[in-house]
Amino acid sequence: MESLTASQIFDSRGNPTVRVVLRLKDRQGVAGQFEAQVPSGASKGSYEAHELRDGGEKYGGQGVSKAVNFVNKIIGPALMDKVNIGEIRLNEQSKIDDFLCQLDGTEKKEKMGANALLAVSMVCTRAGAAIQGKELFEHLALLSGMPTDNFILPVPFMNQINGGVHSGNTLAFQEFMIAPVGAQTFTHAMQICTEIYHTLKSIIIERSGKAATGLGDEGGFAPPLKSADEALHLLELATLKAGYSVYRNQSGQQHGDVAFGIDPASSEFFDKKRKLYDLGFKFDPHDKAKSDFCLSSSELGEVYESICKKYSVILLEDPFAEDDFDSWKNFTREHSCGLEIVGDDLLATNPKRIRIGIEQALCNSLLLKINQIGTITEAIESAQLARNNGWRVFVSHRSGETVDDFIADLAVGLRTGHLKCGAPARGERLAKYNRLLAIESILQSRQEKIKYSYAGYNTQ
Ligand code: PGA
Ligand code: ZN
Repeated sequence: MESLTASQIFDSRGNPTVRVVLRLKDRQGVAGQFEAQVPSGASKGSYEAHELRDGGEKYGGQGVSKAVNFVNKIIGPALMDKVNIGEIRLNEQSKIDDFLCQLDGTEKKEKMGANALLAVSMVCTRAGAAIQGKELFEHLALLSGMPTDNFILPVPFMNQINGGVHSGNTLAFQEFMIAPVGAQTFTHAMQICTEIYHTLKSIIIERSGKAATGLGDEGGFAPPLKSADEALHLLELATLKAGYSVYRNQSGQQHGDVAFGIDPASSEFFDKKRKLYDLGFKFDPHDKAKSDFCLSSSELGEVYESICKKYSVILLEDPFAEDDFDSWKNFTREHSCGLEIVGDDLLATNPKRIRIGIEQALCNSLLLKINQIGTITEAIESAQLARNNGWRVFVSHRSGETVDDFIADLAVGLRTGHLKCGAPARGERLAKYNRLLAIESILQSRQEKIKYSYAGYNTQ
C-alpha cells in the first residue's frame, strides 16, 4: 500500500463528511486508487455508533477534522504497516475491521469516530475486491457466505414523498416509497419508478401548483400534506395514471406492479414524557388542530392498520419509537403474516440490539445502514444474524448522502432482495441506482443467471 489518506468533503446537505483515498503500489499486482465517502443521518437513533464531529463554531460544529486527523495520523500509518509487512491482506476484511475496532477501543467508536473507521473499512473492501480481480458485489458475496454465481438484483423501494425531519411540510411520517414488485428486471423497475415519479409531479402541480414540487432531503416531493392517507392516495393515483396496477395479495395470489412502503421514523415525534406520538410536531404551535394529532401507541397502531389495508402497504419501518418495545411487540404479533416490519432506530444495525429484537420478536426485518455500526464486517454480521433468524434485510442510504455507491453492491452481494436509496432525483441518490443498472448489465454480459426479486415474493 502506498498511502491511505483522509480529507473533509461535503454531503448532500452541505455538512462536512469524511473521504478516504487508498493508493496501491504496483507490486501488489494491482496499481490503483480507491475511494470511499461516508453518509450521515438526520433522524439518527440513539444506539448508533458515534459520528465524530469537531464541535465549536465552524460549520455549526459539524466539521470532521478530528476524524480526518485520526485517519491521517493513526489509522492510515498503522494499517499500512500491517499490510506492507504482510500481516493483513486487503481482502481479509474481518482482520482489517478487528484491527480498526481495536485501535479505537471503545464500544460505540467514540474515540476515533465511526465516520473515520467506516471510510477506511469501505475503501479496504474496494481494494480487497480489486486485488482479487473481482467486482465489489462479488467480494461482498464471498465475505458474507452468499453464492457468487446466482445474484439477485434488488427491488428498489423508491422514495416519492418526503415528510418528517427530511422536509419543511407538516407531514409527520418521513418517507413514502413505491416498490415495483411486478417488474421483470432492475432496468424495468427503474422505468416504472421514474415514470410514476414524473406523473406524481404533474399531479402535485395540478393540485397545489408548481411551488409545491420542491424536494426533501431524499429527493422525494414535499407537498403540503397533513396525513399519511393523503400521501398514499397520491402515490396510488400516480401509479394508476402512469399506467401501472397496484399490487394485491388476494387469497395467496399475488398480482400487480407496484406496492408501497412507509418509514414514519416515529422516534422523531415520540413524546417520551407523555408516552404519546405527536403527529402534529411540525404544526404551528398555535394551530388548534394540533392536539387532535397526538396519539397513544394503540391509536397510532390503528392508523397503520387502516392505511396498510387501504393502500397495499407491504413494508413499514420504525412504526414505534426505539425503546417502545411493548408497542413493537404487540404490533408485530398482530401482523405476523404479510407485512414487513423493519427496525431502523430500534436496532441501529447493532448485533446486540438485533439479538434483543429477535428474542422479544419486536419486528421481522433489519434495516442495514453501514454507518450505524461503523465497519463492513460488523454490518455483514448484523445481516447474517437477522437472516439466520428468519428476518429480511433491507439495505439503506442515509438522508445526508454522497455520490459513493457502495450500498448498491452491498444489496446485490448480500442478496437482500430490496433496498432504499431515495428518489430518482439528486446525484447522490442516482449514483446508487446507476450502479445497480451497471451491475445488471455486467451480469447480463457474462450471461449469468440473475434474478430480480423482492425476497419472499419470488425468491427461488
Ligand atoms: P436518516 O433517515 O438517514 O435521516 O436517519 C433515513 C431513515 O430513517 O431510514
Ligand atoms: Zn428509518
